[in-house]
Amino acid sequence: MPKVWIEKLLDEPELYLLRIDDDQVKYFEATWDIPEGITYNAYLMKTDNAVVLFDAWKKGYADKFLEALSSIIDPKDITHIIVHHTEPDHSGALPKVLEANGYKAKIIGTAFAKRLLESFYGIKENVHAVKDGEELKIGNRTLKFIALPWLHWPDTMITYLVEDKIIFSCDAWGGYSIPERIDDSDEDVVERYLPYATKYIVTVIGHYRKYIMENAEKIKKLGIVDDVKMILPGHGLIWRKNPQRIFEYYANVGLGTPKKGKILVIYDSMYGFVEKSVRIAIDELQKLGFKPVVYKFTDKEAPAVSEIVGEVPDSEALVIGASTYEANIHPRIRYTLYEILDKANYEKPVLILGTFGWAGVAGREIGALIKKSKFDHVDTIEVKGRTTAEDEVKIRDGVRELVKRLRK
Ligand code: FEO
Repeated sequence: MPKVWIEKLLDEPELYLLRIDDDQVKYFEATWDIPEGITYNAYLMKTDNAVVLFDAWKKGYADKFLEALSSIIDPKDITHIIVHHTEPDHSGALPKVLEANGYKAKIIGTAFAKRLLESFYGIKENVHAVKDGEELKIGNRTLKFIALPWLHWPDTMITYLVEDKIIFSCDAWGGYSIPERIDDSDEDVVERYLPYATKYIVTVIGHYRKYIMENAEKIKKLGIVDDVKMILPGHGLIWRKNPQRIFEYYANVGLGTPKKGKILVIYDSMYGFVEKSVRIAIDELQKLGFKPVVYKFTDKEAPAVSEIVGEVPDSEALVIGASTYEANIHPRIRYTLYEILDKANYEKPVLILGTFGWAGVAGREIGALIKKSKFDHVDTIEVKGRTTAEDEVKIRDGVRELVKRLRK
């Protein structure tokens, strides 16, 4: 049952978090397995003669959202609604909010958001498009709107509450899961949360990775990063003990900063042949002091691709094992690779281990895809049927070459 949090964050201005823990969702964007769930965070600010709502929740939770809002204010009193991003996980409840509000509130977003509000919901009255860097005085507070395109859509902006040094960031600096706390005050909670932030960054924003860095640079240049007192994202933990930490964390995921020794190993094995080769590679990696993190597709297990892509950014290198399947790459590895190249395309070395029965295709095809990507193709070792002693020598040599690339 989704839990609702209504938490007062500040007395002056009066600022509230409205969070719902979506423990019902299984596949975010109908794609990414998130058994850990996700939260939708909206915020409400009361200041002189103004009540400002920042974003909302998903449509399915619109009634609960109205209930939560109504426990603080009369929805009719909302004077402004800031729409940072129109993806329906943040905007789905807006039509009901507007109805309860009597369509009196001024809606503020980027010009792109204005277009999307009309196409998604037919909302076109009272929508005011703001420009990048525009400031608006609401009550006794100044709201500065900063466009953050592609974090996560082209419509996206964040709001900087100038006097209080608070960022309302929507998707940016958010993460998956349902943390037991609302903020970063408990280190154990933060430690558990951060891997879900990586998984979220890669799956949701990974395709637009270069914008993570570009927008981080933009925010830095505005002089906001060092001063910010609170980051209030649309998903996951609020950052108020150490807001700079999540900036830095995002930057590291964007850059693909590796954890020393971590090598991601992904493979399929229908009948144990690929596994034999991969086990040799794992053995060699361990002998060399590395820590392989292994995901395998077999007749007994099929890990979530969302988990695998989330492991890429902090890996030093990848080993991919695949069997040839109907003159192609095994379908599980084919899809996994497709998502890695789309969402987690990093400048990291890759060793490919292919296995085939009568005609080798998988290794060659993976090699061609890797060569076209940002990854560094180290070698492709194709094995026919069982792995022979000769193959073993080649695989161990391949692993040593992979490791050499890391030291260059
Ligand atoms: Fe959380 Fe791009 O929506």
